[in-house]
Amino acid sequence: MKFSSLYNRDNDSGGTKSNDNVARASGESKSLPSGRPSAPAKPSSFVCAETAEKTAAHAVYALLLDRVAQLLYASAGKQPLSLNSHDAVFCELMNVLSAGNPYLLVLTLKYPSVRPFLPYHIVNAVILACHLGMKLKLAEQDLKVLFFTTMLHDVGMTRVSHLANEPRALTTAEYEEIKTHVVYSMEVVKALLAENPWLMESVLQEIIYVHERIDGLGYPRGFTKEKIRTLGQIIAVTDTYEAMCHERPWRKPLLPQDVTRHIIKGSGTQFRPDIVKSVTETFTIFPPGSWVELSSGDIGHVMDTNAGYLTRPKVFITKSSTAGCSVIDLLGNPLLHIVRQLPYLERNDASPVAFKYPPAGAQQDV
Ligand SMILES: [Fe+2]
Repeated sequence: MKFSSLYNRDNDSGGTKSNDNVARASGESKSLPSGRPSAPAKPSSFVCAETAEKTAAHAVYALLLDRVAQLLYASAGKQPLSLNSHDAVFCELMNVLSAGNPYLLVLTLKYPSVRPFLPYHIVNAVILACHLGMKLKLAEQDLKVLFFTTMLHDVGMTRVSHLANEPRALTTAEYEEIKTHVVYSMEVVKALLAENPWLMESVLQEIIYVHERIDGLGYPRGFTKEKIRTLGQIIAVTDTYEAMCHERPWRKPLLPQDVTRHIIKGSGTQFRPDIVKSVTETFTIFPPGSWVELSSGDIGHVMDTNAGYLTRPKVFITKSSTAGCSVIDLLGNPLLHIVRQLPYLERNDASPVAFKYPPAGAQQDV
């Protein structure tokens, strides 16, 4: 399935073109580690495909970050914004995900300490939610609503950023204030999507459920499972997953396997069991981007999962005492297994995709 803005029901006038996207990000992409000198040469077609996939993943990630910067800038009241160009980014993202490009998912988890955390959190949540939505075979228009709802679900945080960035536990009163970001986000949705009533209503219907939990202990309304909607619940689980896997000013990142355990524990109480099942099957306990040590002593990050084999992913080796291929598929190497998941490697903390704020084209006099 090829995603194109042509299918959209809105009268969008276009936006960023594909070639522009690749050109914009090509300067930011870096080559993969070259591996060991004794590694067998890869067929040139494989190398070309690998490089193209990495370039495409970085291009889409950079585009998403730029659009999030625009959203945050606009939601802070600094500049009006049309979301027309976001529609083209939605198509770019869907095309990369539907092509099975593993690098985009790697970018969501490989850098657990990115700062500032909010824009990276939104981008990562968008990628994870849309990836899960595609695995669940959602209709194209549902995917579009999922995309926009995830893009906008936390923009209201800009109004309570003084609390969101506190390097300590919040008081009860402060936590109550943080909860108001949902209302602020809904105000931004109404303002930014006013020209597209169908999309605005669709996003508003879902965004209110992102922080609701099926036991009624969520916010802002305390809805129970009878009222929890599917798209809002997909975002709720992937939003939680992404947040817990990354560092915050008040805590260190958790291991993906511990986050998965937390989410499974919340199945049937906090989260819908069907969505939890899909998350654990899709991301597994060793998701793309997570760091692992193999029984050989080699260290690397997971490049891709093998469906149905939760503990036997493909691993990109970055540290090894022996010669060998740079990518090890554990499904084809039964004598190797994962010994442990590594908390995080400080030398890999800096994301290769930079967040630029104010965004390009921002008014200079603000
Ligand atoms: Fe969030």
